[in-house]
Amino acid sequence: MTTPASPSPLSQDELKALVGQAALQYVVPGEIVGVGTGSTVNKFIDALGSMKDRIRGAVSSSVASTQRLQALGIPVFDANEVESLSVYIDGADEIDGRGYMVKGGGAALTREKIVAALAQRFVCIADESKLVEALGRFPLPVEVIPMAAQQIARRFAARGGQATLRLKDGQPLVTDNGQHILDVRGLSISDPLAFESEVNQWPGVVTVGVFAHQKAAVCLLGTAGGVRTIH
Ligand code: 5RP
Repeated sequence: MTTPASPSPLSQDELKALVGQAALQYVVPGEIVGVGTGSTVNKFIDALGSMKDRIRGAVSSSVASTQRLQALGIPVFDANEVESLSVYIDGADEIDGRGYMVKGGGAALTREKIVAALAQRFVCIADESKLVEALGRFPLPVEVIPMAAQQIARRFAARGGQATLRLKDGQPLVTDNGQHILDVRGLSISDPLAFESEVNQWPGVVTVGVFAHQKAAVCLLGTAGGVRTIH
């Protein structure tokens, strides 16, 4: 799990469907499964529909995933109703050879971290384009309290990062939690554990999109040769 895989003849969408289907093997019958957010997870949710009568339900990390689960008739539990989950299945914007990830491209990073924290095992599903040597290529999403956005942007600037407010339809994007997202380019994240701990301490940061303390235990990577399982 150290070098990026070679390009695949399968489309990115097909690779996402491949790993979405493969993730079913990690779902424990009779239990509640933790479900992430994004286009890869959407493939997983669609596949989960085929075993909906064999699970109790799901805890979801976004309004979008909740709606998709419920449309398939899968019961969605509030995270407060659940003490622990065997598994949490989610995508990533980047994953490195140690299972450290950058997440939040879909703006759901805070709830993703909350649900992942309930789970004993994080299973990451991703197409091969997400595998990187070192985190930092993808602009780092950071959910922030709006009144702190500029001071947080200055802190990133002092570390060589350029933070921009994420927009939607010309307006600041508002997350499911009513907050804003900064996307930070130009960072070098050589020590993801220390980086995550440090940024989490900054006043006004709700969640930083580095998932190092809650890294993936398993990654199912969609490649030209099929699903590659990385532990
Ligand atoms: C959402 C996320 C997603 O997992 C991440 O953006 C990957 O999404 P996709 O599967 O659509 O590429 O972190 O906040």
